[in-house]
Amino acid sequence: MSKILYISSEAFPLIKTGGLADVAGSLPVALLKQSQDMRLLLPAYPEVLNKITRSKKLSAKTYYNMPVEIIETRLPGSNVIVWLVDCPALFDRPGGPYSNSHGQAWHDNALRFAVFCYVAVDIALNQLQLNWQPDVVHCNDWQSGLVPALLSLHTERPATIFTVHNLAYQGLFNHQTFIHLHLPDELWQINGLEFYGQLSFIKGGLVYADKITTVSPSYAHEILSPEFGYGLDGLLNNRSEHLSGILNGIDEKHWNPGTDKYLKQKYNRHSLAKKPRNKTQLQEELSLPVDASLAMIGMVSRLVEQKGLDIILQSLATLITMPVQLVILGTGETHYEIQLTEWAQQHPDRLKVIIGYNEALAHKIEAASDLYLMPSTFEPCGLNQLYSLRYGNLPIVTPVGGLADTVIDASEKNIKNKTANGFVLEQQSATALLNSVQRALALFQKPEVWRQLQVNAMRGDFSWQTSAGRYIALYQQALSPNC
Ligand code: ADP
Ligand code: GLC
Repeated sequence: MSKILYISSEAFPLIKTGGLADVAGSLPVALLKQSQDMRLLLPAYPEVLNKITRSKKLSAKTYYNMPVEIIETRLPGSNVIVWLVDCPALFDRPGGPYSNSHGQAWHDNALRFAVFCYVAVDIALNQLQLNWQPDVVHCNDWQSGLVPALLSLHTERPATIFTVHNLAYQGLFNHQTFIHLHLPDELWQINGLEFYGQLSFIKGGLVYADKITTVSPSYAHEILSPEFGYGLDGLLNNRSEHLSGILNGIDEKHWNPGTDKYLKQKYNRHSLAKKPRNKTQLQEELSLPVDASLAMIGMVSRLVEQKGLDIILQSLATLITMPVQLVILGTGETHYEIQLTEWAQQHPDRLKVIIGYNEALAHKIEAASDLYLMPSTFEPCGLNQLYSLRYGNLPIVTPVGGLADTVIDASEKNIKNKTANGFVLEQQSATALLNSVQRALALFQKPEVWRQLQVNAMRGDFSWQTSAGRYIALYQQALSPNC
């Protein structure tokens, strides 16, 4: 058993903006089940404080003249101990974890997450009288990137792991910020936090962590190339012997069509005949024509370039002439929100666009849809294709990252050997997307083949069990003296 400090800037169900929250809300639970002694470190945003029921104060200290308290609680629905970094000056404000309600990044994000990192470092070095010192500190994304960097300055320290959920978000700030934060001078170097004259939080993880992981094996490979490396591929190539990919799992309790609390009509792979009832209900709820013969194509996503919105928009004129209904739920870049909403207004029978974040609707869309659209330009892992597989809703994906690692194309050969579970585009283009939808619709007309594809999808194992075991093996490696 090892003591693991798992650091994340979001964790479901306490606070969520994307897949990182799903992972941080479920991997620590799986690690605890496999006998690791877990602590999850999270900022005490107001949304989090409103959701917790029991809590106690553990420790207090001042950082940059601001009082900070550590509050202990539990991750709802589990026994994972959560330590909240309560610094009202930085975290107690309305809006999101990273940006205000207009979508603008908080002006003091560097300071907010520097404090978060310094608290983590103090815990790692047993400076806060918490009576618990981790063997391993597991950081996630740029918000915890300074932790491995700061810990590298100490000889007696825990092992460090840094997981990249998305290399596109790097936590870049100007050099002045480095000075204002009084970060140690020796960290300002090319083989340190400096990135073309800027302060890079993510480099703190990539340069200094003992081990680096990404959330799928294919993405671990892709980020070694300039196309996916965002200027960090050189550094990653240098550290490639310490880089590996471990596929995300899913919370199988929360994403289970057999028990899903948001569904009136539950089903599993032995009762697939009940699934279409979810489509009828959603058609009624969203005022779409009620028609079982139309294939419903769902999408629940951040509306950003990464998610393939450009090729979706290029395909829409043709897509809406096909026997389909598209249901898109998301928030993100304003120009995508506006364009999609305009298309939906012009074609109300074919396309429904719901701008907003809605957990219940996300589950209903997964259950109602026949196909799921995820033609990402890159995808470190992707969770929605996994939820779709579990709900017998066949994903249409690009052959990148975690999508390539989890979706098996419905080629003739794969249909025959019963491995096919979705549709993989030949490349990321509108033409390839339309070809795949055509292929899917042809198979949708063959109920027996379709049913088999759904069964193949639904019997996939996307539990955390195997991947949690891989993390534990990696922790052991990082702890070994010759790491
Ligand atoms: P990413 O983290 O890149 O956004 P993932 O596929 O890993 O992509 O995870 C996205 C998570 O966020 C999923 O759980 C998805 O259901 C959820 N999600 C995204 N947008 C919305 C939304 N508008 N409403 C509800 N859930 C959403
Ligand atoms: C990121 C990635 C997504 C991944 C998620 C959780 O947000 O964009 O692909 O599934 O993190 O690891």
